[in-house]
Amino acid sequence: MTTMTVIGCGYLGAVHAACMATLGHDVLGIDVDAGKVDQLNRGVPPFFEPGFPELLAEALESGRLRFTSDMSQATGRRVHFVCVGTPQKRNEYAADLAYVDSAVNALAPHLSPDALVVGKSTVPVGTAARLADVVTEAQPGAMLAWNPEFLREGFAVQDTLRPDRIVYGLPDGVPGDAAKALLDEVYGNALTAGTPLVVTDYATAELVKAAANSFLATKISFINAMAEVCEASGADVTKLADAIGYDPRIGRRFLNAGLGFGGGCLPKDIRAFMARAGELGADQALAFLREIDSINMRRRVRMVDLAREFFGGSIVGRRVAVLGLAFKPNSDDIRDSPALNVAAQMKLQGASVVVTDPQAVANAHKAWPDLEYADTAQTAAKDADLVMVLTEWDEYRKLDPVEFGTIVAGRRVLDGRNALNREVWRAAGWNYRAL
Ligand code: UGA
Repeated sequence: MTTMTVIGCGYLGAVHAACMATLGHDVLGIDVDAGKVDQLNRGVPPFFEPGFPELLAEALESGRLRFTSDMSQATGRRVHFVCVGTPQKRNEYAADLAYVDSAVNALAPHLSPDALVVGKSTVPVGTAARLADVVTEAQPGAMLAWNPEFLREGFAVQDTLRPDRIVYGLPDGVPGDAAKALLDEVYGNALTAGTPLVVTDYATAELVKAAANSFLATKISFINAMAEVCEASGADVTKLADAIGYDPRIGRRFLNAGLGFGGGCLPKDIRAFMARAGELGADQALAFLREIDSINMRRRVRMVDLAREFFGGSIVGRRVAVLGLAFKPNSDDIRDSPALNVAAQMKLQGASVVVTDPQAVANAHKAWPDLEYADTAQTAAKDADLVMVLTEWDEYRKLDPVEFGTIVAGRRVLDGRNALNREVWRAAGWNYRAL
């Protein structure tokens, strides 16, 4: 058992803290948000994540997990995971490192001589080396490692307990060996289960994360670029994705064409990566990411255009039901959500928009109070001239088009995620169109 803190209790940190406690470690979660700390201590998850409520309850019950806002309680603990956010700076591509810097600065005076600070946040390459100096200046014996996180929202618990791979970015020499031994102890169970381990330097570990998310974003924009060509030529991008995906060098995963990527990670990570490459004089190497971003943003515009085409050019006064607000299913996260963005655009262009989502309504309402909110797809669709499926929740995939057709005013459906069975919907009399 290792004593540890997890600093930053958002989607990443809270799940990491609870998972570490269930692995047998003694964990203190630290967050500046006292409200969130209070909720977590009472076993109330501050966000929706499948499997997390049960995990949190189990971890709290074990007595090995609690949360605080008081950084001084970090004193004497051996390992400190830094899990705070690195959002995009306002009006800039670069990542805002204010939270990472303030977490490490606040922690530094409480470090013991054998402490290990472990960065998990996604940061621009070069950050770990800079933070290592802060750590050793405050406490000469303490060490820093970079251990990027690859979990997906919606699968956070399983991705943390059974990761695809673990990456350690370590300092050279003896401190690196000591840091590795300590991390091995922390991840013992996962490592003995055969998870691949990549041990490397700080810069490579930081870049692994940026490269992985850039590759995923590229895969999505690639298939969306193919979707544009398919649309122009009358071809079917879903069949195309199936066919190229059978080649194991390509693979079918992350080739779902539609409204494109959003969330708190991929969009800001590719932009931060471009900004950092620019600072390093390597901007040409990542110039293609600008195109990846443009293809992605174009999807949202195209979606609104398709809606307009249904009505001969104008959506003014049309009643539109939007199903899905989260940036992806099984999440309540609306950060840079393509679905919410399209719903807001439709509203700004004069449509009367009713939105719904199984989990994201509360968050969306805070950001866009002007939209009309409904509890269910059925209520949202009442008397609608157009239904738009913008997040592919299972319950929307399972809608019965015959029954659903009796609720709406006009059987027009736009499938932003290629989630519905078009033949079945067309057979039920729907005018079906997809991206
Ligand atoms: C992403 C990565 O997948 C994780 O590995 C990484 O750890 C995480 O970012 C992070 O940096 O923290 P996440 O943002 O939770 O995870 O969501 P994804 O499942 O990657 O989906 C991102 C977006 O791409 C969603 O809007 C989704 O709808 C879209 N997407 C995904 C597609 O449009 N098509 C696809 O085929 C797959």
